[in-house]
Amino acid sequence: MSKTAKKLANLLVTRKLPDAVEARAARDYRAQLNPQDKNYTAEDLAELSQGMDGLLIASTNRMTADAIEGLAKGVRIVATFSVGIEHIDLKAAKARAIVVTNTPDVLTDATADQTMLLLLAAARRAWEGTAMVREGRWLGWSPIQLMGVHPGGKRLGILGMGRIGQAVARRARPFGMEIHYHNRKRLPKDQEQGAIFHQTAEDLLKVSDFLSFHCPLTPETKKFLNAERIKLLPQGAIVVNTARGGVIDDEALIAALKSRRLAAAGLDVFEGEPKLNPGYLKLDNAFLTPHQGSGTVETRNAMGFRALDNLDAFFAGKAPPDRVA
Ligand code: DGY
Repeated sequence: MSKTAKKLANLLVTRKLPDAVEARAARDYRAQLNPQDKNYTAEDLAELSQGMDGLLIASTNRMTADAIEGLAKGVRIVATFSVGIEHIDLKAAKARAIVVTNTPDVLTDATADQTMLLLLAAARRAWEGTAMVREGRWLGWSPIQLMGVHPGGKRLGILGMGRIGQAVARRARPFGMEIHYHNRKRLPKDQEQGAIFHQTAEDLLKVSDFLSFHCPLTPETKKFLNAERIKLLPQGAIVVNTARGGVIDDEALIAALKSRRLAAAGLDVFEGEPKLNPGYLKLDNAFLTPHQGSGTVETRNAMGFRALDNLDAFFAGKAPPDRVA
């Protein structure tokens, strides 16, 4: 769009976004930004959405039915700066004829990279190692110090074989891992690339020396990994989660890590984040990162541009490419 072109619409941007994304939003829209990155409540959104045509939100904005109901009548689209959409009540959005879009594809590689980081860190006891060095407790090399486990030759169970699950499989194969998966639908052979399909998630657990979550958080997956299902995992299995914290029953996982029924976990997402279950903080076999799966400059820019592409299409009277409601 040229400098003199008409701005497309009034847009409320609810979080501080990367500079390049904000610059494009301000160039093409009468954009109200959030430079202080204030954590808007539903009441704030009700007020700030007055006079707005669209909202560019993030996964931290809980768009419940009430929050959607509270939005000003002129709001016709909510574009989320995320692939996940569980923070938006899609039924409520549809009922108000509000279009919803997300940002698939662009964060696949970054999230798969973060998954490998967690998988390797958990397997190789990276948290214990860095703490030992930083706290001056390292007394020198020893033959039995911090012996972890080797991913090579182990079975990696991927729960949810969508874009990110498949990207993780591509990364794990060169490490010598055997890929197993469960998905609502079995993949076509060419996409499976030799991965072994399991009809049920429980069958997958039984063979998962490493288990990695790549499914959305839905009523069906909520607290999926509970005490009962942990019993199905091989002794000493390692659990990795870059999907959503809600898929794990924290108390059950913490107990299994404490007792060493499970060897380790690598977790990037937590139920109730940023207030995670404090039990995790006491565990030396939990490698924890702060929901940074998509946290690269390239990816966060691409997420913002993708959200803006959807808004641009909508306000140009075209179908937004990533419409989810
Ligand atoms: C996503 O895009 O869903 C990431 O988890 C950030 O919310």
